[in-house]
Amino acid sequence: MNPFREVNRVFVCSCFGVTEEQVKSHAEAGACTPRQIASACKAGTDCGGCVRRIQALLGRGACPRRQLIDQGQAALTELPGAPELPEAA
Ligand code: FES
Repeated sequence: MNPFREVNRVFVCSCFGVTEEQVKSHAEAGACTPRQIASACKAGTDCGGCVRRIQALLGRGACPRRQLIDQGQAALTELPGAPELPEAA
């Protein structure tokens, strides 16, 4: 590893050392709210000082499902390989 390589980490949550990239990857995996981000990586569960920054990241398109919802499209689609279920009576 090159010691002179520039490391570009933007920390969102200093209590738990969570970076902006980590929040974005959790959002891409389906965490669309600060609470879901907290469940994924604990960010926001100590002092709470980062919650607004997490909200801002989620509001800037970090969550692909939220974009679908904003466009009026279905965010949850059929799972590939899932069996067909009969209609409930
Ligand atoms: S900075 Fe994230 S919980 Fe304190």
